[in-house]
Amino acid sequence: MATTISNSPSNISFLLLLLLLHFYLGQSQLEVNFYSKSCPKAEDIIKQQVTQLYNKHGNTAVSWVRNLFHDCMVKSCDASLLLETVRNGVVSEKTSSRSFGMRNFKYVNTIKAAVEQECPLTVSCADIVALSARDAIALLGGPSIEMKTGRRDSEESYVREVEDLIPNHNDSISLVLSRFQAIGIDVEATVALLGAHSVGRVHCVNLVQRLYPTVDKTLNPAHAEYLKRRCPTPNPDPKAVMYSRNDLITPMIIDNNYYKNILQHKGLLSVDEELATDPRTAPYVQNMANDNDYFHQQFSRAILLLSETNPLTGDQGQIRKDCRYLNAN
Ligand code: HEM
Ligand SMILES: *[C@@H]1O[C@H](CO)[C@@H](O)[C@H](O)[C@H]1NC(C)=O
Repeated sequence: MATTISNSPSNISFLLLLLLLHFYLGQSQLEVNFYSKSCPKAEDIIKQQVTQLYNKHGNTAVSWVRNLFHDCMVKSCDASLLLETVRNGVVSEKTSSRSFGMRNFKYVNTIKAAVEQECPLTVSCADIVALSARDAIALLGGPSIEMKTGRRDSEESYVREVEDLIPNHNDSISLVLSRFQAIGIDVEATVALLGAHSVGRVHCVNLVQRLYPTVDKTLNPAHAEYLKRRCPTPNPDPKAVMYSRNDLITPMIIDNNYYKNILQHKGLLSVDEELATDPRTAPYVQNMANDNDYFHQQFSRAILLLSETNPLTGDQGQIRKDCRYLNAN
């Protein structure tokens, strides 16, 4: 009985197998119904909260859609967007000029509180960002989307990266396409995502460059006159709530009216205008303008791509107790 257990070749391969298995299982992934055992009511509670908030303040739903973009575009869908600035610590991504006009953050806490009451420290803020966007899209007349869950929350804010990752209001369509391509979102999906600009508003500070001192030649002249009435001065007070709605006909519905508008050169941002005229994107714009179902199909596909950007899973990150702050250790 001289053979020791540890040198036996079959035991070594067994250990190797265990090691491989551990490695494989460690690579957690998002899955449909991730909370089915740990918090079976999670998705229902979120949907109920999102619906209640929508009934009281319809524009909360619009905010949840923009939140998904601003969270997922910066590294990962990890709720890094929601962190508040704290003394000697986190500087919030919300302080970036790219976050201008974002609103309703306090109501994320309402959703999170309802979920925490049912299942403490179980459901991530990142999944609340994703699922609230999903439920908001349905409430806003967009498609119903089956979304995976299991995202975890970041342990830091990426405020320094925000400006490099989220395009500015006056960036070119080429830059926008390359930013999206870098996170695996193709041209057609990018065109569909911009359809989110079928709802919500743009403040005058993000518009006036196209109106003053001279009107942008690409802008529909009648629409330019309308926008000048909405934004009568070239230097609007950034604190004044002066804005134009994106879509004057169906301002609270995620529909293909956005594409009809930009084909008439009534897009508010220069990216909206360029989307309609750039040869890489124009054919998709035309198709989406012609067919709302096709737009919704592509919008669903694109939202899923966006919402699965580089998630933290398994034992990465944390499940924040309060979406605004890292857990105390
Ligand atoms: C890629 C280029 C994009 C640029 C340059 C851009 C820029 C902007 C700007 C400047 C505003 C107006 C902010 C304000 O003045 O209040 C805005 C609003 C909005 N954006 Fe985008 N955006 C882009 C893509 C997206 C995407 C991909 C989504 C979502 C899928 C999105 C969703 C929204 C929504 C919902 C609003 C309205 C927010 C509100 O009314 O509170 N945007 N965007
Ligand atoms: C875009 O707008 C910002 C102000 O919002 C301005 O500082 C910047 O120079 C503009 N960039 C271009 C390329 O026009």
